Amino acid sequence: MIALLRPLCVLLLGLLGVCLPVSSSSCRVRIPPHDQVARVARFVAHQVDWASMATISTHKPVVGQPFSNTFSVSDGPEGSSTGIPYMYLTHMEVSVKDLEVNPQASLSMSLAQTDYCRQQGFDPQSPLCAHIILSGSVMEVNGTEADFAKKALFSRHPEMIDWPTDHNWFFAKFNITQVWVLDYFGGVKTVTPEEYFQADPHRKHH
Ligand SMILES: *[C@@H]1O[C@H](CO)[C@@H](O)[C@H](O)[C@H]1NC(C)=O
Ligand SMILES: *[C@@H]1O[C@H](CO)[C@@H](O)[C@H](O)[C@H]1NC(C)=O
Repeated sequence: MIALLRPLCVLLLGLLGVCLPVSSSSCRVRIPPHDQVARVARFVAHQVDWASMATISTHKPVVGQPFSNTFSVSDGPEGSSTGIPYMYLTHMEVSVKDLEVNPQASLSMSLAQTDYCRQQGFDPQSPLCAHIILSGSVMEVNGTEADFAKKALFSRHPEMIDWPTDHNWFFAKFNITQVWVLDYFGGVKTVTPEEYFQADPHRKHH
């Protein structure tokens, strides 16, 4: 059923001008060239809907050890990338309790989370299956930035609207201090936050 619907979805999305990563030549966005590392990082950060976030655990029996957990993210509504990963969090959550003690964290995002790597035949651990690691810290946002975070997250994660209100959800962002990119052979490449935020994730066609 899903296999049959997929080509139809791609077609409909294509007609609407919405883009899936590297789906067809009519697509308006594609992965940037691998040597444009900052652009690749921005591309990956915008394409993915979730990330693995590692915190320093405060929970027995792994206190002080890395603890990697899954979070829904959005750096902006589809087609409006800011590069800033926003998250919708509650203090009841196991990793958020770690962040209360130490806000430093690491986010991992991969095109293996999209159809791209499977379609290209790239193994998730291959650097050709572009993936990035963000170092930094998690900070609550408020005011107009929280309004934007809400739009960014709820447009791509509609289910969030119905998450239980008694959990005291809040909006947060990942404050990036270093970007690590694996998008080709030759080892990891680093991108400064300045280079990352200046880069344009999309190459426009036509
Ligand atoms: C947002 O949070 C900062 C501190 O993180 C605070 O100084 C500021 O007053 C807050 N703004 C609003 C609109 O709540
Ligand atoms: C983000 O983290 C850096 C490095 O720790 C810090 O200097 C900066 O003030 C943080 N940004 C904000 C908005 O707090």
